[in-house]
Amino acid sequence: MLWYLFNDTEHINTVRKLIRRSWRKMIMYNNQLKQKKKDETISCTSSTSSKIPRGTSGWPLIGETLEFIASGYSSRPVTFMEKRKSLYGKVFRTHLLGKPIIASTDPDVNKAVLQNHGNVFVPSYPKSVTELLGKSSILQTNGPLQKRLHSLIGGYFRSPQFKSRIACEIEDSVKLSLSTWEQRKQPVLLQDETKQITFEVLVRVLMSVGPGEDMEFLKREFQEFIKGIICLPIKFPGTRFYKSLQAKKKLFKMVKNIVEERKLGMEKTGEKSSGSPIDVIHVLLTDMKESSDNPQQLPRLPSDITENIIEMMIAGEDSVPMVMTLAVKYLSDNPVALSRIMEENMTLKRQKAESCDGYAWTDYMSLQFTQNVITETLRMANIINAVWRKAQKDVEIKGFLIPKDWCIMTSFTSVHMDDENYENPYQFNPWRWEKTRGMVNNSITFTPFGGGQRLCPGLELARLEISIFLHHFVTKYRWEAEDDKIVTFPTVKMKRKLPITITPMVVAMRGTPALGRRFFGDSVVQMRSGHHKFMIPLISANGGYDWTLHRYMIFL
Ligand code: HEM
Repeated sequence: MLWYLFNDTEHINTVRKLIRRSWRKMIMYNNQLKQKKKDETISCTSSTSSKIPRGTSGWPLIGETLEFIASGYSSRPVTFMEKRKSLYGKVFRTHLLGKPIIASTDPDVNKAVLQNHGNVFVPSYPKSVTELLGKSSILQTNGPLQKRLHSLIGGYFRSPQFKSRIACEIEDSVKLSLSTWEQRKQPVLLQDETKQITFEVLVRVLMSVGPGEDMEFLKREFQEFIKGIICLPIKFPGTRFYKSLQAKKKLFKMVKNIVEERKLGMEKTGEKSSGSPIDVIHVLLTDMKESSDNPQQLPRLPSDITENIIEMMIAGEDSVPMVMTLAVKYLSDNPVALSRIMEENMTLKRQKAESCDGYAWTDYMSLQFTQNVITETLRMANIINAVWRKAQKDVEIKGFLIPKDWCIMTSFTSVHMDDENYENPYQFNPWRWEKTRGMVNNSITFTPFGGGQRLCPGLELARLEISIFLHHFVTKYRWEAEDDKIVTFPTVKMKRKLPITITPMVVAMRGTPALGRRFFGDSVVQMRSGHHKFMIPLISANGGYDWTLHRYMIFL
């Protein structure tokens, strides 16, 4: 019967139609369900039953700010949130930095806030940040212009052409920097050193400035500028904020000159959008040109993109080196994870040495365990521990009322460190990501890069930089990290910048097994190359016995 049905074209067509119709119905029903669920989670009219979440406003004026800051300096920064969560539930009311705040440790509420398209929630930053950033910065822009900027930058950073070019440049910066560490008499301050590497990469990515006087000027003025991002916004000569504004003026002048020169250059050559862009300035200027040739195209970028460029320096400057530093810190404290990451990276290094091929960006990203280490570091480190948004109108989420003009703080740290979401959340365990293959960047319970429309456009660049750094670092050096502590206020930092003492991992001599054993006793491993066996004595460059290499050997 079935055979008959499926051999008959008329019947086949009828069955096809039926399948298509029910498929369409299923999709429609599914969409309706999704929409209904969304509407239930977030609604812009407060129903009579919805209430401002429970909580307390603390002391007059200062609210609960002091306790909030104190927990940021403690070894367990989520204490502030955990204490209130146990008293009032996952969403509660507090008063921080002079504002009434709704704090959320609930992944569903966080998602609803992040997913909002700028018509209900807008970013809300302290006054010092908004003044130093400037009005046209993407972090303060909303609606179609933010979308446009976000997709231009994100699209550029995601392109394989960009990744392939930038991987070589990151590699050069990392190798050059690592090669200078050996000559140091003092321990290397990892937090500072990684900052040097990533700043140079960032300046290249944004405006194609290489090492030299201009780079040094940008480094100096940017460091002065960034110090005022979180401080009292008092514009009086001598104050921190005033000095930062002065530095911003100098920085602004230089970046503006670069942008103007590039604009002139493009006008002269009549450069079009064809060919792959060389940096972010190029991407934005090309878009500006295209939209002026085609005035109907909306929205248009601001006439001056200098602030966009400076602001991206802020977004990428501190976050990437901190993840690099913390990954090294966590690995130093977890020898098993360290051995595993070394093994994986040594294998790649050996393959590359044997084939005499250079590295492609995909080689770095294919290191599965290394990606797990990065993901786990992002979860535990919480470089951006929360985002702050302001409600443009009364909003109800999951039955909670967020009144107009109130801020909501979506805590990522609380979600990442909640044992409902992660087993033993305080344990550094890269293996927990094995099922997801380490490459997860965003899920309801994992939001180191934010989410929704403002999901960090630099996330792939960040991962690539960290992967390249880790590869060359763990295959070049052994190290010993000194005791240090993570502090999380005002931003995540190592208290002592993570001093490490490094020893280059230069091994080994080849010889016969007997010779090897006679000279080095057990300090040899047997290696196979084709049909030949070699005994390799494991000695580090300073002559000491290398226990790490005892397990994970490298071929010279
Ligand atoms: C590990 C490194 C990084 C982390 C953890 C990180 C995290 C974040 C987070 C959480 C947001 C969302 C902020 C919000 O919703 O208000 C964000 C936005 C942003 N990030 Fe990153 N970021 C990193 C690296 C970078 C890099 C390397 C760049 C660029 C060079 C970059 C550029 C941006 C920009 C431009 C935005 C604003 C997007 C918008 O508002 O539309 N980030 N980042």
